[in-house]
Amino acid sequence: MLNIALPKGRLGERVYSMFEKAGFACPSIRENNRRLIFENEECGVRYFWVKPSDVAIYVERGAADIGVAGKDILLEYRPDVYELLDLNTGKCRMAVAAKKDFRDDPARRLRVATKFGHIAEGYYASLGREIDIIHLNGSIEIAPILGLSDVIVDIVETGTTLKENDLAVMEEIVPISARLIANKANFKFKCEPIERLLASLREQVEETK
Ligand code: PRP
Repeated sequence: MLNIALPKGRLGERVYSMFEKAGFACPSIRENNRRLIFENEECGVRYFWVKPSDVAIYVERGAADIGVAGKDILLEYRPDVYELLDLNTGKCRMAVAAKKDFRDDPARRLRVATKFGHIAEGYYASLGREIDIIHLNGSIEIAPILGLSDVIVDIVETGTTLKENDLAVMEEIVPISARLIANKANFKFKCEPIERLLASLREQVEETK
């Protein structure tokens, strides 16, 4: 049985369609209910819907053999997993944003609100800029508006959230997309089905380029 952790939500549904095409279908998953685990014994596959930021934990600890996680999560938490493939979907970017009229004063420590403390620290360390991290769990865009921070480091997809809140991208840090990841030990034991899946996903990704 191949255990696959998928991120709940639109990205997970899109990725499931790719897995289905690859011969790892599990029709019951399309039923609209609140179950979180779906199994198809015939194909030898079991899917779990988990919170997107938790996929890497399931895979790192071997509760799932493989999974799909955003590059943002992999950069932030650096889980000890194999990164097998860039799925070329779930594309967005990690960026620094601020109020449109914000001007950085290098004499002061920069106050950075973010969910991605490691990414922000690494980015500003590479610039030699001293910062204070203000760790928030969501709705990061509010922080500069209320004066809690000078800038934010966050994911920008369509840019709508920034626009609606009168913020603008100041710098781009790194492009983000969904990645297929595997548990290191289980990859060896379940090499055959994983390689089979990987070959089809690679083809599908090439077709979308
Ligand atoms: C993410 C991100 C931004 C928004 C960007 O938030 O933190 O707020 O999406 O998307 P956009 O550029 O298309 O507007 P998410 O929905 O994950 O919620 P949260 O960070 O507030 O929890």
